Amino acid sequence: MRILVVGGAGTIGRRLVPELRSRGHEVIVAGRSSGEVRVDLAEPETIAAMYREAGAVDAVVSIAAHGALDEFAKLTSAELHENMRAKFYGQVELVLQGQHHAADGASFTLTSGIFADEAWPHVTGGGVISGALHSFVLSAAIELPRGMRVNAVSPTMIGDSAEEFGEHFPGMRPVPMDELVRHYLNCVESDVTGTVVRAYA
Ligand SMILES: NC(=O)c1ccc[n+]([C@@H]2O[C@H](COP(=O)([O-])OP(=O)(O)OC[C@H]3O[C@@H](n4cnc5c(N)ncnc54)[C@H](OP(=O)(O)O)[C@@H]3O)[C@@H](O)[C@H]2O)c1
Repeated sequence: MRILVVGGAGTIGRRLVPELRSRGHEVIVAGRSSGEVRVDLAEPETIAAMYREAGAVDAVVSIAAHGALDEFAKLTSAELHENMRAKFYGQVELVLQGQHHAADGASFTLTSGIFADEAWPHVTGGGVISGALHSFVLSAAIELPRGMRVNAVSPTMIGDSAEEFGEHFPGMRPVPMDELVRHYLNCVESDVTGTVVRAYA
């Protein structure tokens, strides 16, 4: 398959992309300043340009753009909206625009996160983003044309990121990267659609 991986140079991407290539897939990595193709998920016109440059693809995997931490007592709807720009609206754009560019039967694999399902301090924005992505996947799966598929992988903190994020989420058990990579591979290579894969340890 010809696979476009947005955020493929990041923590998950550095493990997923070599695995996809070792299975015989052609992988194009996109990012704001990394990979072969430029895109900023917060800017819809760059998504259009990315699809034009990448050409027809059989799968799109998105592993880019985090929700930001927030302070509930000071949180504003404007801040929430800004927080959603790349990770929620950007991933939605990948599908809405991608349905017109990708090949028949193409799949979209998005990334959400555990805060859709578990409350933790300082992640209201992250929870809203991921919960909204899960609802989007349900609807999009029955609307997509030409046999296209869409799923979301919802990780908890990943083992490889425990050092970076562990101080913010004390007591959260990380999911092993190998297990997480298997979930992405299954979304790309199987015929599953409309699924939220909860990769919670
Ligand atoms: N790591 C974890 O523990 C964890 C846990 C739960 C969920 N997740 C989710 O999994 C996804 C990937 O996480 P990660 O840890 O692999 O991230 P990461 O290491 O920060 O890598 C993110 C990648 O995405 C690209 N990127 C960032 N913002 C972008 C944007 N606005 N437009 C296009 N590309 C962008 C970056 O490259 P450029 O800088 O070149 O753009 C980079 O290659 C995120 O949605 C994250 O919230 C991660």
